[in-house]
Amino acid sequence: MPLAGKRILLVISGGIAAYKSLDLIRRLRERGAEVRPVMTAGAREFVTPLAVGALSAGHVYTDLFSREDEQDVGHIRLARDCDLVVVAPATADLMAKMAHGLADDLASTVLLATDRPVLLAPAMNPKMWAHPATRRNVETLRRDGLSFVGPNAGEMAEGGEAGLGRMAEPLEIVAAAEGLLDGGQRPLAGRRAIVTSGPTHEPIDPVRYIANRSSGRQGHAIAAALARLGADVTLVSGPVALPDPPGVRVVRVERAEEMLRAVLAALPADIAVMVAAVADWHVAAPGAEKIKKQPGKGPPPLMLAENPDILKTVGHHEQRPKVVVGFAAETQDVEKNGRVKLEKKGADLIVANDVSPQTGIMGGTRNSVKLITAAGVEEWPDLSKDDVARRLADWIAGRLT
Ligand code: CTP
Repeated sequence: MPLAGKRILLVISGGIAAYKSLDLIRRLRERGAEVRPVMTAGAREFVTPLAVGALSAGHVYTDLFSREDEQDVGHIRLARDCDLVVVAPATADLMAKMAHGLADDLASTVLLATDRPVLLAPAMNPKMWAHPATRRNVETLRRDGLSFVGPNAGEMAEGGEAGLGRMAEPLEIVAAAEGLLDGGQRPLAGRRAIVTSGPTHEPIDPVRYIANRSSGRQGHAIAAALARLGADVTLVSGPVALPDPPGVRVVRVERAEEMLRAVLAALPADIAVMVAAVADWHVAAPGAEKIKKQPGKGPPPLMLAENPDILKTVGHHEQRPKVVVGFAAETQDVEKNGRVKLEKKGADLIVANDVSPQTGIMGGTRNSVKLITAAGVEEWPDLSKDDVARRLADWIAGRLT
């Protein structure tokens, strides 16, 4: 029971995603946690204290000025008598209040009074999440040391709209909570990391592009593993069909050019792990309009131009991170080519793998890698991409401490 004996204060604020908080309570308790719920007035419009109380098997706290609640524990003790505060869903309104230190109901007062780690699972309409005011508030809360899980991309519960704003799934929130409660195993606390992941899309015209088979699984898993060890992670991701890893800042890009810009904007950092399968070339002059077939003239020639090498740029940058890790996707001479890349790109480590189609690595869930450093080669067994990520994050932490 990974959360045995852990006391979690769960703040539920008023969004439609509050229905998922019922499942979250169940999942947390299944893992041994004791859950004490606080509900805002808004939350009580979506789910009832009766349901929340039944699932948590205890008192539900709702009112700042309730004599009964104050006699029971009091809002200051409520704020401190726990190992972790989880806010799920965290609405735009509650985050705005938190960012400004407002305390006009029990939930916001508890959040201002707590000295425990706080994990936020935002949920709102994509336009509200993208609004500059919300962006500012999220940035403020991150700087204040609060952690985030999600939001994810997808359909909104209210229907009709899709985009970033869906609350992370209960199990993702549980995983993020476990990560935060991992008993001081946070050797990368205070370190900044940049991870690239996924493919790039290089436009041919407004409707067509050149891409590759990268799924982003390995890069996303590494971003999550570094975050679990306490790093402040910026994940620069090409187009992928994966949820945002918990507790990670995600910057979405399409082209290699944009990926480079986003990576440079995230410097300075202590760690760079360049996992993306960056296209080596882009179409020199993509069509401004859809290119039409021209009967009798044959296919149009596609002139390619070289893309910037992001890893090499970072590896030789004046703000070079202390640990620079690259990947080498090879179909032959894995070790030899990996060694050349280590040297040429200014990396401390190249994680080399054989991406020949028969290995199933590209786009799959498993990976077997060789670690190439100036000191030599270390071969890891066939592992899940999550396990490769965990081991790599430990390797990086070892290099930094
Ligand atoms: N990489 C990068 N920018 C590029 C190309 C590659 O940052 N424009 C990074 C990848 O993220 C990876 C490493 O460089 O960490 C090696 O990528 P790989 O595709 O194996 O090597 P290339 O440099 O593209 O060389 P080649 O395609 O000739 O094998």
